[in-house]
Parts: sequence; C-alpha cells; structure tokens
Amino acid sequence: TTEAIVTVDGPSGVGKGTLAQYLCCKTGFHLLDSGAIYRSLAYGVLDQDLALDNLPGLVELAENLPVEFIETSILYQGQDITAKVRTEEVAAMASKVAAIPEVRAALLKRQKDYAQPPGLIADGRDMGTVVFPNAPVKLFLTASAEERAKRRVKQLKNQGVDVNIRQITQDIMERDERDRTRKTSPLVPADDALEIDTTDLSIDEVCKLAMDQLWKHG
Ligand code: C5P
Repeated sequence: TTEAIVTVDGPSGVGKGTLAQYLCCKTGFHLLDSGAIYRSLAYGVLDQDLALDNLPGLVELAENLPVEFIETSILYQGQDITAKVRTEEVAAMASKVAAIPEVRAALLKRQKDYAQPPGLIADGRDMGTVVFPNAPVKLFLTASAEERAKRRVKQLKNQGVDVNIRQITQDIMERDERDRTRKTSPLVPADDALEIDTTDLSIDEVCKLAMDQLWKHG
C-alpha cells in the first residue's frame, strides 16, 4: 500500500530518527531506518575489506546483505552490530557507498518492501524523492550545521562516546556535502515536501508540526 506512507528526509543530526520514532509510536506504523541499511552495508564493506572500485563485489553484497533488524537491534550474520554502525567511520563509508548508483539500485526493493499495512514511516535522504515518490505526506527537516553538530555531540555523549566537537562538525559537513552533491538521489527535498527548519525548535515542537501535517491528510 502506498496510501499510508510518511517520508522523513534531511541531513544528518537533524532529528529525523527521533521524529520518525515518535511518529511510529503515535500511528502504530512500521519504521524504515534506511540509513541503518546503508550503515550495515558499510559495515560489511569494511569487514570484508571490499574496495570502493569493486563494483560487482559491492552490488553482490548490497543484494544479499546478511542483515536483520530485530526491534531496535541490527544483526549482521547474526552478530549484534547496533553500536558498531553508529561510529563516524561507518557513517563516512556509508555515504561513500551510497553515492554509487548501482548500489542504491540494489537496495531499492528491500526498502520498498517495508510499505506494509497499517503504514510506514520512512527515514532517510531520498525517501520522498526516489523510494516512495507517491507518499502522501513528505517531511524534510533542516537545521544549521552548528546546531546539528551540537545535537550529534549530545547524542554521542549520551551513548558514552568520547567526542571532539570540531571533528564531529567537520565529519558532518563532509558527509552532507557528499550526500547533497552526488548525482544519484542527492539529498534534496521533494517538490511536495513540507520543509521544517528545526534550528530553533524543540523536539516537541517538531513532533507537533509533523502531527498537524498527518492530520491534514487524514
Ligand atoms: O541517516 P544516517 O546518518 O544513518 O545515514 C548514513 C548515510 O547513509 C548518509 O550519510 C547517506 O550517505 C546514506 N543514506 C542515503 N540514503 C538514505 C539513507 C542514508 O544515501 N536513504
């Protein structure tokens, strides 16, 4: 069913994950964390030491990615990699493999298959533009780079990770630049997306704006 799909796109550290989880709770819809799929692929690429110019190897891994999402855990060949995929090393590799069109194509069906009743909240970069172009509700979150870096630092500190704010800011900016400027599925809002600048908004305020949008579409 394409009727009940809400897409949540935007750059890293903007609060997509928090909003997507909130919307799932409110609606009882399924959740697609597409970034976690790209991160799992990146984990596999690093683990197998695959070269970025080994296109057949990358596509083969993407097509047969041995990953399972069990509640909030990510299992790779049965091994829990939930914490491992959150590192900036994996994130940077994710955005490198994500720039390869054949890799994105190989992951498309897996993502589309998440559209199941009663509905789906899809979190990513190209959910509203490429994966679910017919979704009736599309949200695109933005925030200043400084604010996003601050949020990411807070999140990492909460997870007990030791962080360097300048390094994080630089990593985020590099990754976003790569995501925005790639030829295939760049990070851009869909024409029919509602853009929400969250720089000066609390999580509650963002959630409320998003819920208002859902109500409008029944
Ligand atoms: O959202 P998250 O930070 O987990 O995503 C990691 C990386 O995966 C992004 O920087 C982006 O390069 C890639 N990605 C993507 N398309 C998506 C989701 C993530 O290219 N739909």
